[in-house]
Amino acid sequence: MAVVTNSTIEVHKSPLCKQMVAPSKILLADLAAEIDLVPPNYVRPISDRPNMQEVETLADASIPVIDLQGLHGHDHSKVIQQIGQACEEYGFFQVKNHGVAEELVGRMMEMAREFFWLPEEERLKNYSDDPTKTTRLSTSFNVRTEKVSNWRDFLRLHCYPLEQYLPEWPINPPSFREEVTQYCTSIRALVLRLLEGISESLGLERGTIAASLGRHGQHMALNYYPPCPQPELTYGLPGHTDPNLITVLLQDDVPGLQVFNGRKWVAVNPIPNTFIVNIGDQMQVISNDKYKSVLHRAVVNCEKERISVPTFYCPSPDAVIGPAKELISDENPAVYRNFTYHEYYGRFWNRGLAKECCLDLFRK
Ligand code: OGA
Ligand code: NI
Repeated sequence: MAVVTNSTIEVHKSPLCKQMVAPSKILLADLAAEIDLVPPNYVRPISDRPNMQEVETLADASIPVIDLQGLHGHDHSKVIQQIGQACEEYGFFQVKNHGVAEELVGRMMEMAREFFWLPEEERLKNYSDDPTKTTRLSTSFNVRTEKVSNWRDFLRLHCYPLEQYLPEWPINPPSFREEVTQYCTSIRALVLRLLEGISESLGLERGTIAASLGRHGQHMALNYYPPCPQPELTYGLPGHTDPNLITVLLQDDVPGLQVFNGRKWVAVNPIPNTFIVNIGDQMQVISNDKYKSVLHRAVVNCEKERISVPTFYCPSPDAVIGPAKELISDENPAVYRNFTYHEYYGRFWNRGLAKECCLDLFRK
């Protein structure tokens, strides 16, 4: 009930009315700040919880670290061999001496933190639940289709071709556009070097993979995982494979990423100045199943917020993707049909982060 007196509005709320009002916040960060228990829509069934006792946390059991220093020198063939082995056996590797300046990386992380620490009303200017929007802040994964929510807010940006998308990017923090432009330009150069190495490791010409991506595309997510009062009940992101070609992930110093190695979940704890690289679904298709797009997930914790910044490198929507013709023969027939990346990406967002890989929908 609202009563207008002398042009001010007084809202009368009975104590009962107050109790009945559930916290209604659009973004998780603002909800999480108000609650002591995980709301029911974030609780996973018992059979689908993180179960930390079963996760391998030993650093030695983690994914390989590859030193890219040697990629263009004497160690070239050794590095190519390491890349090939990692793509085949793990679908994941970490890279050091990657050529992206430490200051740039530090400022990218700082921009992400500053963005998520902006006042709610400022962040909400970027909000949309429409997955087809090229720049948007949202929460969970796809709030339009999912039944269980994920303990995450995220800002998604398209960043190649840059001129096309830059005008949509947030203008707050004030140096956001400038810093993120520098970061994503430098990451793109790293990705193009990795694509040459991966092409070579498959026995293809260096430029083959890059040439199969049409005009190319590059997206980024700034993931924000607030501290969670009951992290054993929910996920930041449940197990999924990435739908794009290749992902380069920057994470802060808070653990949370886990990779499935075929038998168990393995924690990938942060190593300063390294990126985590993983093969996405499109690379699995191009390699005709030689390289694996592997399940991974993010868990949350009750103490600290966690920030991660994945770069998703991808074909342009109109690019036609299929197994590289050099890799198929009578003995090794194509296991996927050809499709446009547009078709693949649409299927991915509409079906939610189901464990079964979206790739199976495109098998011959
Ligand atoms: C992703 C992802 C992992 C992480 O955004 O696709 O897998 O550690 N993120 O945030
Ligand atoms: Ni992912």
